[in-house]
Amino acid sequence: MNKNKAWSDRFEGSLHPAIAIFNASIGFDIELIEYDLTGSIAHARMLARTGIISPTEAQQIVDGLEQIRQEYRQGNFNPGIEQEDVHFAVERRLTEIIGDVGKKLHTARSRNDQVGTDLRLYLRDQISQIQQYLRDLQSTLVKQASQHVETLIPGYTHLQRAQPVSLAHHLLAYFQMLERDWQRLSEVRSRTNTCPLGSGALAGTTFAIDRHYSAELLEFDQVYANSLDGVSDRDFAIEFLNACSLIMVHLSRLSEEMILWASQEFGFISLTDSCATGSSIMPQKKNPDVPELIRGKAGRVFGHLQALLVMMKGLPLAYNKDLQEDKEAVFDAVKTVKISLEAMTILLEEGIEFKTNRLNQAVNEDFSNATDVADYLAQKGIPFREAYNLVGKAVKHSLASGKLLKDLSLEQWKEIHTAFESDIYSAIAPQQVVAARNSYGGTGFEQVRQQLQDAIALLQQSS
Ligand code: ARG
Repeated sequence: MNKNKAWSDRFEGSLHPAIAIFNASIGFDIELIEYDLTGSIAHARMLARTGIISPTEAQQIVDGLEQIRQEYRQGNFNPGIEQEDVHFAVERRLTEIIGDVGKKLHTARSRNDQVGTDLRLYLRDQISQIQQYLRDLQSTLVKQASQHVETLIPGYTHLQRAQPVSLAHHLLAYFQMLERDWQRLSEVRSRTNTCPLGSGALAGTTFAIDRHYSAELLEFDQVYANSLDGVSDRDFAIEFLNACSLIMVHLSRLSEEMILWASQEFGFISLTDSCATGSSIMPQKKNPDVPELIRGKAGRVFGHLQALLVMMKGLPLAYNKDLQEDKEAVFDAVKTVKISLEAMTILLEEGIEFKTNRLNQAVNEDFSNATDVADYLAQKGIPFREAYNLVGKAVKHSLASGKLLKDLSLEQWKEIHTAFESDIYSAIAPQQVVAARNSYGGTGFEQVRQQLQDAIALLQQSS
């Protein structure tokens, strides 16, 4: 008889080898081991406090669990497929180390409330780590932005030149997105931080446990009020994947811009050798692999979110083995988001250089000051819609003669409308066009400096 068998004596046969592999989660849930140990230690302490096991027994269990932690950290705990999952692996090793007392650990507990506890402890940790990665990227954005308050870059709508903006303003837009990501993770953390331990398999337990005590030891904010919900809720994992997906949306948008900017058509940035790759056949190529990979990885994180939503939608209460599928999705999302945030931080920090000459040329070569001509007239009392139409005509004529608005003579301006004076030239110079958009949150330099200050203050306050 297999001494490692998991099930009660009801079972006589053993699993088909292929089914054992199919069923096992140890290959990936070993990732949870430290949280499993921590959760079990709290459970053992609770069992002693409530008199369900003796203090000596609890101490033996805790010591045994800590020994497993050391073994794991030293690389000496490598359970195989026959252990099925991390929970069985730990319990069996514990019993090897401390003998039969180890068999008392699972009193008043099920793997269902256990795995839910582990996953929440894991995510709580990962959320804090990802928040730190977000802060690092935000700091890099601020660093770049502070060097480029008065660098101008074409602003686009519909990917058509619209109005020039401060490059810092453009970069700080991403700071704001990441700030929402940071906040969203804090909100997800608060709902993740609810303890299912003590829900048992599904219905609670006959033992007089103290759920609030074990929850407190594990620094949970609250306990699940309903055991069925406690063992089967994965809302927090879905919310987490949603937060990860939005982070990837933001990284992917920035990546897409960098890829465009690095193209010969835009030419707004150059890639430094530390973050670019070449082609195996075309010697002239320098490729933006890093932002392309980040953009590509966004898809897999969205996929994990979708996988969990679909996995959950048909599940009757309470625990179902389908839930084992949550882990690889969550683990992979965590790894992908972290590595993508890190890569983007390095890319912004040292992988790109803004070509300021080209940017300056770009904002001087188009009609993105047309709105400012209309505003000029509107400020002199001409109704905006009328001014808009007049400037439209001016653009049409300039285009026909291969000129820009700044090339029109004062006479030509006056032909369009007598209200034009010689100050029209300074009013439509790109630097002035940007400076003048000084409405709150706008790209005017004063506003951008304020945004930058606020961003710096926010980072200092939260560090
Ligand atoms: N490995 C399982 C999981 O990840 C642990 C819980 C198993 N519970 C059960 N009743 N089979 O979900």
